[in-house]
Amino acid sequence: MASGRGSNAEKILRRASLDPQLEVSLLICDKKDANALTLAWNYGVKGHFIPVINKDKSAQETKILEVLKNAKVDWVLLAGYMRILSEDFIKALYNKEKGFSPLINIHPSLLPSFPGVNSYQNAFDYGVKVHGATIHLVTGELDAGPILLQESYKRVNEDTFLEFKNKGLENEHKLYQKFLDNLVKGSIKLVETSSKRMQAIFVNPDGSFGG
Ligand code: GRF
Repeated sequence: MASGRGSNAEKILRRASLDPQLEVSLLICDKKDANALTLAWNYGVKGHFIPVINKDKSAQETKILEVLKNAKVDWVLLAGYMRILSEDFIKALYNKEKGFSPLINIHPSLLPSFPGVNSYQNAFDYGVKVHGATIHLVTGELDAGPILLQESYKRVNEDTFLEFKNKGLENEHKLYQKFLDNLVKGSIKLVETSSKRMQAIFVNPDGSFGG
């Protein structure tokens, strides 16, 4: 699911087009002129434009769920989908066997730092020396679902904001590749941390940890 430029979506589409173990069944987009829809088309993947009409997000989410269920997808990857999903939506995707909703998001910061919007700008303005991206499971709490993977990069003092952000985007692309590398090999399990939070880990078929 994407909303705009679709650079993360493109990396996923490209990877799936080269890897017989992966298939992107469809791309859902809430913005009509989004480049993400064109990219899906270029890769021969059906793009569904499902907007919010008359501020009725619940009707939009019902349509999205219908499309996802008809396609029997195993995973839903958010790749720059710029709308907060409701708890009902997340619950509707719950998978008993997995023990969670197989809904994945990439967030452009090392969570729990800089959640919400404008993470690159906020981190840059704050003066961080290391920044990065997080792939996490989506729960009802914004940008606070169990963390699965993180990847960091260094901020160079001379970097302009644009350079900082571009490095960040490249880093995000790398992280989604890493996610897919692990996904084709193993499964995702939820484990409790010592502070009773949940974290997500990749487990390989031989029981070793991925990531
Ligand atoms: C990315 O930085 C993503 O993490 C954030 O929005 C941006 C989308 O970029 N949520 P793109 O559409 O994948 O190029």
